[in-house]
Amino acid sequence: MKIALLGLGTVGTGVVNVLENNKEKIAKLTGETLTISHVLVNNVDKQREVELGGAIITNNIDEILSDDTIDIVIEVMGGIGDTKDILNTFLEKGIHVVSANKDMLAEHIDELAETANKNDAQLLYEASVAGGIPVIHAIENSLNSNQITKVMGILNGTTNYILSKMTIDGWDYDKALDDAKAKGYAEADPTNDVEGIDAQRKIVLLSRLAYDRKVDIAEVPVTGISGVDIADIRNADNENLTLKLLGKSEFRDNTLSISVEPILLPSDHQLAGVNYEKNAVFVNGNAIGEAMFYGPGAGSLETASAVVSDLINVIRTKAARQMNIAPDTPAEIKSGGNSGEYYIRLKSNESEDKTASVLNDLSIGFSRIEADKDFVVRTETIDSGKLDALRQNDAITVEASYQIDGVE
Ligand code: NAP
Ligand code: HSE
Repeated sequence: MKIALLGLGTVGTGVVNVLENNKEKIAKLTGETLTISHVLVNNVDKQREVELGGAIITNNIDEILSDDTIDIVIEVMGGIGDTKDILNTFLEKGIHVVSANKDMLAEHIDELAETANKNDAQLLYEASVAGGIPVIHAIENSLNSNQITKVMGILNGTTNYILSKMTIDGWDYDKALDDAKAKGYAEADPTNDVEGIDAQRKIVLLSRLAYDRKVDIAEVPVTGISGVDIADIRNADNENLTLKLLGKSEFRDNTLSISVEPILLPSDHQLAGVNYEKNAVFVNGNAIGEAMFYGPGAGSLETASAVVSDLINVIRTKAARQMNIAPDTPAEIKSGGNSGEYYIRLKSNESEDKTASVLNDLSIGFSRIEADKDFVVRTETIDSGKLDALRQNDAITVEASYQIDGVE
């Protein structure tokens, strides 16, 4: 069987390695000899770390599109609009596609799924969410007996790596980000990682699948970690709280609550113990209750594990499977804030007494948290509207605020 590999970076190199390292097992599972016939890259002159046999290495996609002997395409190059068009063309020709590209899928999966279904082609995308963790397969197959009500988790390896390095090892943000880049966890441009956009795309893909609803990504509120101050991590740690970037969605009464933001969790919470590049996803269903999936969220071989499993499953599924097509109307997304406890760090523009009285005037019950700088409090349960009112008060400046979740 002939495979075209689009992209030979961190993940593409891992794919070549997994195919080589596990070739006997893969041949036994598929009953096929798999050959990488074409590799698409930007720079054909770049020295590569892997042996590609007789594969044609090209930067011209037309060479691959015009070869009618290709059976399966693996897309691990990234890109959104052009990449979607390329994959759509392969699917129109009935060629199966495996993709790790959450950026593109979060926007275009419904269109590609329709093309795949019409042309008896398959589109698999396990590696696009939570790297090597088989959570897409779990939701689509192993938990399809459930009505799923909630999906929540740590969905980005880079930001979890940075927050873990800051919390556990006392590293500063920039050093941790550089290390995440060097290890191949971060995207080529890590803005989407650190601003939460990568996790936003992943929670959209999981929610679409879990609730069988289209999700309009533009409506999903997102806050990243680029503004996190290590002082808040230390203050929270003294209170046995750990900061994590969480993607959360809940579907009740036909309404979707969905967000990505840094949240403080009790340090003994299961997700607080998920560190470095590891990801974890909780899925709640009406039969299973709660299930947790844990594993590597990024990395070369780790992500390639999911890509190559998709490849094997495409070959082993003799009859083309039909993908779910969600109803045309996107899920209604609940707007407005959450109520809960909050960690708030305030700068007093007048005096500490005045700061306390501002909180009291707004009926925000709080206890002080010892801190080297500023006026830091843990509130009682409040509506996020009160936080908005606090932000508008001239006597103080809200320097940082995080919801505290997972408190029993
Ligand atoms: P990467 O290291 O930057 O590699 C991208 C590869 O694609 C490179 O080989 C590059 O060619 C090639 N490429 C990019 N744009 C191209 C274009 N327009 N035409 C031809 N070739 C092109 O990226 P990566 O980390 O492997 O990620 C690949 C995809 O997997 C992305 O969608 C990413 O979001 C996703 N993903 C990554 C991870 C991870 O841990 N890294 C995990 C899950 C999913 P050159 O080599 O010539 O530059
Ligand atoms: N940059 C992504 C991350 C890669 O750090 O999670 C895996 O999708």
